[in-house]
Amino acid sequence: MRLCSYLYLALLLAVCGTGTNAQLVNPNNNTFGNVFNFWTKTADGWDLTRGNATNAITLTLPHPKSQVKIQPAASALVIIDMQNYFLHPDLGGDPLGRALVPITIDMIHAFRANGMKVFWTNWGLTEFDLMSMPPAFFRGFSSDGTSATSFGSDMGTIQGNISVGRKLMRGSWNAQPFGDLLDEQVGGVANGTDFYFNKNRLSGMWGTSTPMQTFLEENLITTLFFGGVNIDQCVWGTLLDTYYKGYDVILVDDISATTSPSAATGMVDFNAALNGWRGNSTDILPALM
Ligand SMILES: *[C@@H]1O[C@H](CO)[C@@H](O)[C@H](O)[C@H]1NC(C)=O
Ligand SMILES: *[C@@H]1O[C@H](CO)[C@@H](O)[C@H](O)[C@H]1NC(C)=O
Ligand SMILES: *[C@@H]1O[C@H](CO)[C@@H](O)[C@H](O)[C@H]1NC(C)=O
Ligand SMILES: *[C@@H]1O[C@H](CO)[C@@H](O)[C@H](O)[C@H]1NC(C)=O
Ligand SMILES: *[C@@H]1O[C@H](CO)[C@@H](O)[C@H](O)[C@H]1NC(C)=O
Repeated sequence: MRLCSYLYLALLLAVCGTGTNAQLVNPNNNTFGNVFNFWTKTADGWDLTRGNATNAITLTLPHPKSQVKIQPAASALVIIDMQNYFLHPDLGGDPLGRALVPITIDMIHAFRANGMKVFWTNWGLTEFDLMSMPPAFFRGFSSDGTSATSFGSDMGTIQGNISVGRKLMRGSWNAQPFGDLLDEQVGGVANGTDFYFNKNRLSGMWGTSTPMQTFLEENLITTLFFGGVNIDQCVWGTLLDTYYKGYDVILVDDISATTSPSAATGMVDFNAALNGWRGNSTDILPALM
């Protein structure tokens, strides 16, 4: 279908010549984009439904202040790195990240109830990833400054009987969703409402393609809501690549946190509102009830 779309666009351009492209691609001043990927400006905001208004939901988002109309079947909540490695207290995890769990679960339930998909986009390395991992990443994930404690190293045992597993390797305990999120993820995936995507960099959308990107393309998902840890690293990296690749991005403040200095969050807050929108769950949940 995508190939047909491109062929059709190429045909339009070939027939009409470059002089009239702009008019064909933007038939009126309130349509932004091309015939396959467009937003429509409304009196008080934006329509992101790309022509499918069935069951559309309108959110009131604060930054920038707008009424944003979305298509639930084309929308998903992306939960990033809410894994034991980053959050569990016995692994030195972030208490700010742990505090996000109840609100994240409220968002998950509301998304599912509206037929909106839930994505778990997490570190989950393979042996091949270790072979191709750049030095800067090994340094960034070392515990003691040597390469012996970086990705793939055995993290030992906690609480006498929990085998933490190899650092951020796919299937290990440390790479599992933290606390009550584990049951949500396992149950949601089993029910077909949720989808689990492994990633091997901060971003789950880098490079020519990733499991998450393939899924977005095959399921015609266009509108993504982001939360998780760290807001300025893996959340921001994934949001930015998703935006670069042409999807709608909405950052959800109160399901995101970081261990970085506040200036890092300031940069993300400023730019996320330019790339798409920012809101809290309190702005989104009422429209999903
Ligand atoms: C679009 O806007 C331009 C000015 O920015 C104006 O000249 C033109 O008439 C507008 N077209 C339509 C269809 O409203
Ligand atoms: C339009 O939206 C409805 C309801 O959300 C969905 O079931 C349907 O598949 C969508 N149609 C297209 C062509 O995407
Ligand atoms: C692991 O140890 C805890 C106490 O620290 C105990 O409650 C639990 O039953 C043990 N689990 C297994 C599988 O042995
Ligand atoms: C899975 O679906 C069942 C039946 O609809 C429901 O009771 C259960 O809460 C769902 N579990 C999750 C984690 O979504
Ligand atoms: C979310 O709520 C917090 C706390 O009230 C507030 O500081 C922040 O500005 C809100 N975010 C947005 C996008 O409105």
